Amino acid sequence: MLEAKSFELFPEAASSIAGHVDAFYAFMVLVSAFFSLLIAFLVVYFAYKYRHRPGENIVYAPYDDHSLSAMLLEVVWTAIPLGLSMIMFVWGISIYFTEARPPVDSMEIFVTGKQWMWKIQHMEGAREINELHIPVNRNVKLTMTSEDVIHDFFIPAFRTKADVLPGRYTTEWFRATKVGSYHIFCAEYCGTKHSGMIGTVTVMTESAYNTWLGAGGGEGSMAEQGQALFNQLGCGNCHASIVNNQNGRCPNLVGLFGSTVELKDGKQVKADASYIRESVLYPQSKIVAGFDDYMPTFKGLITEDGMLKLIEYIRSLGAKNGVINQATPLPVQTADPAKAAISKPGVALPLPGSGGVAR
Ligand code: CUA
Repeated sequence: MLEAKSFELFPEAASSIAGHVDAFYAFMVLVSAFFSLLIAFLVVYFAYKYRHRPGENIVYAPYDDHSLSAMLLEVVWTAIPLGLSMIMFVWGISIYFTEARPPVDSMEIFVTGKQWMWKIQHMEGAREINELHIPVNRNVKLTMTSEDVIHDFFIPAFRTKADVLPGRYTTEWFRATKVGSYHIFCAEYCGTKHSGMIGTVTVMTESAYNTWLGAGGGEGSMAEQGQALFNQLGCGNCHASIVNNQNGRCPNLVGLFGSTVELKDGKQVKADASYIRESVLYPQSKIVAGFDDYMPTFKGLITEDGMLKLIEYIRSLGAKNGVINQATPLPVQTADPAKAAISKPGVALPLPGSGGVAR
């Protein structure tokens, strides 16, 4: 689990392979510790036992290095390390092969690394950012690639990690054995925000997972559905500031709607429906002052219908002082691309209902 806890040597063991990795690791540590202590002890003991005493005359005993006892000694101190290292080799390689070969019955999930986030795509359509929901006791195979540099998808509690490379697919698999939430880390230095390229894997019961997968098409007001979409698209991972009403990695959305936004290039823009729509589909076109251009585009992932729900949700977040601004009617017409095009001439705006799905 992710609760704050006191110092611990090992992360929780929550996958089928974790116990094997830990046992192997413990074996290597114990073997190394045993010989380190033995050698250290003998160094000190012999230094004392054979120390030079005043007035002592050193006489070396004759030693025949072709004797049987000398031969025996050589065989023993060769055979023992050979045996120990072969145990480590065979044990280690069997764990490696197990981790390298996903079982054929694995369910498939796709991962894209990007500076600096993890994008997850489920076969059923659900899409997440920096979150991975999986069912317990099921083999899960990740097929991974990168949009930019080399990343590495690491789940310490599962004892699995694999490099994520641009231009090719790598795989990683695991079978979670415990319901709970566990860390995802990027384990390959990938730029200034490498340490922030983290996430959470949520292991759920099979039924809870199926419910989670099927969520999103439910009832509720437009804003509630927009909120579901907001959560589903992972917007909250960056725009989580709505919780504490502070700016986070991405601009605070509380009180955004209807306000005037300061842009990086010094211009100002009114945060209306067109602006929000443009920011969702073409996030790089208007960067808010004080923030970086790293929001991915959601073009093709959200329908015009879903976009309106999302805008309605952002509008329902009200003002920064906590007043929910329900009075302002949603200016639906500004979401019309023809109108929006007037506000930003020369820029090709996307056509509504471009066939994308909302989840
Ligand atoms: Cu991605 Cu480090």
